[in-house]
Amino acid sequence: MIREIQDEILRLKKEQDVCILAHSYQAREIAEVADFVGDSYQLSVKATTAPQKTVIMCGVRFMAETVKILSPEKTVYLANPIAGCPMAEQMDRDLISMWKRANPDYTVVAYINTTAELKTICDVCVTSSSAVKIVKKLESDKIVFIPDCNLGQYVADQVPEKEIKLLQGGCPIHAAVTAKDVEKARAQHPDALLLVHPECVPAVVNQADFVGSTSAIMEYAKASDAKEFIIGTEISIAEHLQYDCPKKEFYPLSKKLICPNMKSTTLVDVLHVLQGRAGEEIRMDEETRLAAKRCIDEMIRLG
Ligand code: 13P
Ligand code: SF4
Repeated sequence: MIREIQDEILRLKKEQDVCILAHSYQAREIAEVADFVGDSYQLSVKATTAPQKTVIMCGVRFMAETVKILSPEKTVYLANPIAGCPMAEQMDRDLISMWKRANPDYTVVAYINTTAELKTICDVCVTSSSAVKIVKKLESDKIVFIPDCNLGQYVADQVPEKEIKLLQGGCPIHAAVTAKDVEKARAQHPDALLLVHPECVPAVVNQADFVGSTSAIMEYAKASDAKEFIIGTEISIAEHLQYDCPKKEFYPLSKKLICPNMKSTTLVDVLHVLQGRAGEEIRMDEETRLAAKRCIDEMIRLG
């Protein structure tokens, strides 16, 4: 049944000249029909070079918004409209505007997991793969990092020469993993390397053998000579790696690492978008798009 749905998706996508982009947290069967699978930075750049006029984003809303911001001439669909990122909704424009008024000498660095509306008032965007590099390159030494205080703390530790203020926000999925989970996983798999996403809390990140974005974790595990890995990010990464590297063993750091938003998109949703029966076309007024684009352009320039 899955194979038949996939075949129909591939047929319709070719017939309609559609590009399917999938974040690496998507299920295997979606990754298999995608034109490109990657982390949030790779997806945003890939969308600009895709020759197709229509893009279906299998990921969460801010990722589809990013594609629209960078490629306004394209028709962009979010495959499942309920797929939001709770972290991206945590801080709104009014709150950060107020903060900026009270602290005018700070540069606002926004994780790409933010709404387009909030991006309009930020100075530069970063992703988990580019955050350290971009913060180092910024002229300003006074930075407020939003919304993820865990990624922000990781950046602050890597760039101690700068003053980095953090506000209380973060990914509820990664933040639920504890140092106790690390202790348990290490006891069960004493020879495994621990690879974690910087959205995890410092008590977890500080024990990792490698810290990186979803794609960086995958690349590291594939290139490593080690045979066993504990994966501290959404469960799909361990599943994709197990599929790609059958001679190695991958263990999820915790059963809590399932993002219901990422998992809300199904293969049938993708088929239904192509059949004009589902999905949401991302629309954005030009003023918002141009203002939000400034900080994404800055991310691409510095990253
Ligand atoms: P990446 O930037 O590593 O793709 O992560 C996106 C995300 O939502 C992680 O939870
Ligand atoms: Fe958002 Fe966390 Fe899900 Fe990533 S894992 S999409 S940050 S809720």
